[in-house]
Amino acid sequence: MATMYTETVKTVRHWTDRLFSFTATRNPGFRFISGQFTMIGLQINGRPLLRAYSMCSANHEEQMEFFSIKVPDGPLTQHLQKLQPGDSLIVGGKATGTLIQDNLLPGKTLYLLGTGTGLAPFISIIKDPDTYERYDHIVLAHGCREIAELGYGEMVVNNLLADEFFGELAREKLLYYPTVTREPFRNTGRITTLFETGKLEADLGLPRLNRETDRVMLCGSPQMLTDLNRMLEERGFAEGNHSEPGHFVIEKAFVEK
Ligand code: A2P
Repeated sequence: MATMYTETVKTVRHWTDRLFSFTATRNPGFRFISGQFTMIGLQINGRPLLRAYSMCSANHEEQMEFFSIKVPDGPLTQHLQKLQPGDSLIVGGKATGTLIQDNLLPGKTLYLLGTGTGLAPFISIIKDPDTYERYDHIVLAHGCREIAELGYGEMVVNNLLADEFFGELAREKLLYYPTVTREPFRNTGRITTLFETGKLEADLGLPRLNRETDRVMLCGSPQMLTDLNRMLEERGFAEGNHSEPGHFVIEKAFVEK
């Protein structure tokens, strides 16, 4: 059987009735690249029940962090949402995933486009100094239904911008673009629409999305990925993977049905 670690939950924070984040101890042997995911879960009826979760913590952090949806009858999340500090968490020993820098060709602006819990892999990426070495700008666009669902991303970005060591780099290069679709806010509309109209780039003072300078990572619902994939291919972007780097890469958000 593959390596599994048993970790201890340290903190839990509920953002809305649908979203929560939590931290846990990290085995020193657990290695990953920013943007990757691993299997995590709980013992349910004496057996491990695991689902794929992206790491929201940076590689240099001692603890692990995850961002999760709560599904009332979701096989894992109905239990996971009840986690308390001190509880055990199973963490699979192997990390994997396509949202890694080596799958992208060099570029000037990195667009990280996530909806809902699709934000998660981008959190480890924006905390990684290597990302800032590779790009002039890193755009983190997060689309949610309601403002309250942006809370976790907002907190992480604000902490990063205020960070004693990291803040200067983040303030120079990181452009955060939260948007909501179901209530008034300073940015509204789906990420797809915001690119179709060019509003997203215009609001940030950047040129229209183009494959010469821009690289894109996508994480969200299957429909969001289909729509953005089509838009990127229409603009001549090629999908990258482990054998051939490209202009964009895709990972689906691991949402429980
Ligand atoms: P909408 O409110 O118009 O459905 P969810 O919580 O359902 O995963 O949605 C997260 C965000 O993703 C919502 O703002 C939702 O907008 C948006 N969304 C849903 N489908 C798409 C899509 N195909 N492309 C881009 N954004 C989408």
